[in-house]
Amino acid sequence: MEDAAVLMRGIHKQFMAVLANHGVDFEARAGEIHGLLGENGAGKTTLMRILSGFYQPDAGNIYLRGRLVRIATPRQAKALGVGMVHQHFRLVERFTVLENLLLGQRAGRGTATLRREIDALEGRFGLSVDPKARVWALSVGERQRVEILKVLYQGADLLILDEPTAVLTPQETEHLFTIVKRMAAEGKAVIFITHKLEEARRLCDRITVLRRGRVAGVLASDTATIPDLARLMVGRTFAPHLARSPVPLGQVELELQGISALDPSGRPALEDVHLQVRGGEILGVAGVAGNGQVALAEVVAGMRIPTSGRLCIGGVDRTGQDAAAIHRAGVAFVPEDRLGTGLCPGLGVAENLIMRDFNRAPFARNGLLQFRAIVESARQKVSDFDIRTPDVGGPVFRLSGGNMQKVVIARELSGSPRVIIASQPTRGLDVAATDAVYRILLAARHRGCGVLLISEDLDEVLSLSDRVAVMYRGRIAGIVTPNSVSREVVGQLMAGVPA
Ligand SMILES: Nc1ncnc2c1ncn2[C@@H]1O[C@H](COP(=O)(O)OP(=O)(O)OP(=O)(O)O)[C@@H](O)[C@H]1O
Ligand SMILES: [Mg+2]
Repeated sequence: MEDAAVLMRGIHKQFMAVLANHGVDFEARAGEIHGLLGENGAGKTTLMRILSGFYQPDAGNIYLRGRLVRIATPRQAKALGVGMVHQHFRLVERFTVLENLLLGQRAGRGTATLRREIDALEGRFGLSVDPKARVWALSVGERQRVEILKVLYQGADLLILDEPTAVLTPQETEHLFTIVKRMAAEGKAVIFITHKLEEARRLCDRITVLRRGRVAGVLASDTATIPDLARLMVGRTFAPHLARSPVPLGQVELELQGISALDPSGRPALEDVHLQVRGGEILGVAGVAGNGQVALAEVVAGMRIPTSGRLCIGGVDRTGQDAAAIHRAGVAFVPEDRLGTGLCPGLGVAENLIMRDFNRAPFARNGLLQFRAIVESARQKVSDFDIRTPDVGGPVFRLSGGNMQKVVIARELSGSPRVIIASQPTRGLDVAATDAVYRILLAARHRGCGVLLISEDLDEVLSLSDRVAVMYRGRIAGIVTPNSVSREVVGQLMAGVPA
């Protein structure tokens, strides 16, 4: 038998009380795209960090092309041809693409040579990015291509992509699939972590499913069904259809009248946006990333002041009020950038969960924090939202990617806000957590809350929303009712084709 590109045997890894990997066996072959699935906190990132030299296993062996190796550092992993593109990118924002690619390279090679080599790689894999561009000015998809170029440039023949599609638009995802398939066709082994089961089935040759740190199964993609995969991951199946019972519409809870706003560099981000969300209604916002969705969410949350127009919450003009005032007016906000805007990674899980209300009873009395109340409330949220953490006191940065997301969602969606702004609420969440978020949003609608659901996942928007507004270049290109309009029409509006 041909040696596997990578073989991991009996891998154990424990972080204090958490057994992240428990006797894991994993194999990927050259030329194979191998999916790695599992619920939030199952141990996927940990296993791959072990393979790429960031963590040392407590026990177990790693073989590369049949040879037993010890991968003590990321540098050694690179030398052995293992490259990882992380769940949260690690580029230097102020540097150019070229400078980022040069980082970590040995000195003495001219930039001209480097440029030639990078051009060749770009051509071979269809990765186009401008080498002179500064990273902060790039879209997420472009940044990711830089990360991939970087590991390819370092000579990787085993590539690990940790949830690469979580932040990509459908178009960017297709582009990435093309790149990944070319890498496999050249004989590289690609390990692909994702929560999107359909995507895993379409792209991967085989799939390994982890469950609570152990291997739950290894399947060939062409025979595995989506319910099979979901059952292996979580041990139960999911109802494919969400019950969306009719709810009487209440008063207008959120209204934007002719709102215009700028992006941080001073360019127009929103132009003359009119929207109304009533109580008991989910208004979906569809659109390709970068068409004003971030500005829209931030204006409604009081984090960006519009240049013109009016913002009303529950019939009261709140234009120009700050985020704290808007929150007090009953607006809950799940931001798209949960790690940047939503969390203080160094603080504890409990502190992050009550951050919005730390200065109010029951969490503060006479200027003193009430730790018992804080811990009790945190424990309740941890259990309601199934946040996997050994204790509520530990820092948030120790949680798995998806569990960090859940902390923000639990904080924002508990209580009874009159308006919820949910930006990409299920990004990075596993099937069970996604299902839970859908139920929470539907329950809020049922209670008479107005929900603004901003998402690039068209299926999500179409299945949850009562009406869908499509954004294009900072404007509302059209508002449609999901069951009276085809996906194609929405797709055209998203692409700027007038209805
Ligand atoms: N550096 C660390 N310190 C302490 N605990 C950690 C650390 N890294 C991971 N863990 C814990 O190990 C477990 C597995 O985490 P891991 O990040 O591997 O999950 P994952 O499968 O990648 O999940 P997700 O889908 O949410 O990204 C989690 O319970 C997590 O809290
Ligand atoms: Mg992870």
